Amino acid sequence: MIKEPVNDSKMDYRSIEHEMCGLNEEKRFEKIHTIIFKKSTLASKVVAHEIAELIRLKEANNELCILGLATGSSPIGVYNELVRMHKEEGLSFQHVVTFNLDEYYPMQTNSLQSYWYFMHEYLFDHIDIKPEHINIPNGTIAEEDVNSYCNEYEEKITSYGGLDLQILGIGRTGHIGFNEPGSHINSITRMVTLDQLTREDASGDFYGSANVPRRAITMGIGTIMKAQRVILMAWGESKASIVAKTVEGNITHHVPATYLQNHNNATFVLDEGASADLKRIHTPWLVGSCTWDEYTTKRAVIWLCQTVNKPILKLTDRDYNEYGMNDLISSYGSSYDLNIQMFNTIQRTITGWPGGKPNADDSQRPERANPAQKRAIIFSPHPDDDVISMGGTFMRLHDQGHEVHVAYQTSGNIAVFDEEVVKYANFYSELKSFNHAENEESDSFYENIKKAVLDKKPGSIDTAEVRRIKGLIRRGEARAACRFVGIPDKRASFLDLPFYETGKVKKKPVGKEDLEITIDILRRIKPHQIFTAGDLSDPHGTHRVCLELIFQAIEVLKNESWMKDCYVWLYRGAWHEWGVEDIDMVVPLSPDQLLKKRKAIFNHQSQKDNVVFQGSDNREFWQRVEDRNRNTATQYNQLGLSEYEAMEAFKRYYF
Ligand code: F6R
Repeated sequence: MIKEPVNDSKMDYRSIEHEMCGLNEEKRFEKIHTIIFKKSTLASKVVAHEIAELIRLKEANNELCILGLATGSSPIGVYNELVRMHKEEGLSFQHVVTFNLDEYYPMQTNSLQSYWYFMHEYLFDHIDIKPEHINIPNGTIAEEDVNSYCNEYEEKITSYGGLDLQILGIGRTGHIGFNEPGSHINSITRMVTLDQLTREDASGDFYGSANVPRRAITMGIGTIMKAQRVILMAWGESKASIVAKTVEGNITHHVPATYLQNHNNATFVLDEGASADLKRIHTPWLVGSCTWDEYTTKRAVIWLCQTVNKPILKLTDRDYNEYGMNDLISSYGSSYDLNIQMFNTIQRTITGWPGGKPNADDSQRPERANPAQKRAIIFSPHPDDDVISMGGTFMRLHDQGHEVHVAYQTSGNIAVFDEEVVKYANFYSELKSFNHAENEESDSFYENIKKAVLDKKPGSIDTAEVRRIKGLIRRGEARAACRFVGIPDKRASFLDLPFYETGKVKKKPVGKEDLEITIDILRRIKPHQIFTAGDLSDPHGTHRVCLELIFQAIEVLKNESWMKDCYVWLYRGAWHEWGVEDIDMVVPLSPDQLLKKRKAIFNHQSQKDNVVFQGSDNREFWQRVEDRNRNTATQYNQLGLSEYEAMEAFKRYYF
């Protein structure tokens, strides 16, 4: 893994690579120049600095800089940094001409979902680029004119001498631009049909995949391949598998990004999550000599069990030798000693006492015995993450006498169907008239809400009142779930963090107020345990932002005396689970406890059956999590540990 440079003097790839060891050996399976950063924030800055350097160089030579730009979540950090450099360092875009990769078709430019809107919101409105230098495929062109329009777009790029630098993201289908599987290497700008997976990934922005356009206009693979320089960015675990296929697999039209293996100046810039499936990260022992720290050893042993299909205590010297781990065995003396040690390490992560077992020897347990009654706070990014992700542990903590608080970080109001709002408004009006309240007023309330909902165009923002009702619906469900667990109402806090309150999938940047609210509740409760969502692959980024806020709050608070006695545990939400190698505490659930957890989740009626943000997984949230909890139990069992029905997993965060 790259050691990240800490100052701006190292904002280029060469000095970063210089800090890597075993570079060539480690990278021998990689067919594209690939750089890995711990976090996407610094990675984005390094990319922005390369772009800025090129802009300045071109300007000094009195030339225009021709940039190919992308949309989506990947380039946002780059645009933020370019805007900062424009405002604080005088970086000028007067000599920059841009060509965007793509646009949905059909698409009105002023629609919230258009790439035109995106580019202006994140970049063009904040810099000094000349409007006539901005080129974005036009989604409003009449269908019969699209062909000639695309040819003109292509010719316009050529007339400037081609793209100096193209930035890219990668879709889970392996698309670059909207060049979906099947695209030809020589393809040029054209109309294409979007892959179903791409439409599902975009469904959040459009409030349901049915509203996502089926087609788009995109630059071709040929257009991209002609750029002098290509930088592809990918962040997060959800990209890990397609990145590995692209970087290490064979060139194939099934994964169009693999064509970039033939580009002579392409770099992939990844964060830790997106690099997770590359051989040098995933199985470094198969790639070259390996530094055997405790974590890598644990990972290797678990991987070996899964590969040879044996429990830990049955692994032999020969198994280790066959899979590139002879040096590991020699440092332990024999597989027997290593197996016992690993078995014990993993065994000790299992506990039915997530708040610590009173009066027990806790030297080998994940949690402390004292204080016997702890104050615990569960941070829940959305109003149902607490019970979905750690409902079993939540109930155990309460049943074992701990004082459990829940802090619901966001209102979750965008994930409620409009029909629900009308239903509740109707109920409210009926109730008022039932109580002999002013009939006219209650009727007009219901009528107004109904009208606000019916008049709304698909994909546009709800009125403030509708949003408020949606938030209240989720609040009521969260309270019901807490009552089901046995938590009094006063221990549920609704933080309604402001960054979330846009009414859109796109959120505001995190502000001071978000952090202050988070710090305040921690100071008020002074917990012995913090449980928080470490679920970094949340497609909308809300979990990621909520976690970042907790980390920042911990940074501010860590020297306060009560924090010295506080453990932080990361659970994972509906999208992903910790691998066994990452787990520091695992709480088993019996079949009855799993059923009870399901009932706690069922209190979230607005998130049942058919939810607004379903993603590409058709299972309901409770089904996904039961499968995940069962799968963790199965994995433990396959390693030779006891057989349980299900398990909830936690990783400890050290600060
Ligand atoms: C965007 C584009 C797409 C995205 C890709 C990744 O202009 O052409 O190829 O780059 O779908 O999207 P994100 O970055 O949102 O994961």
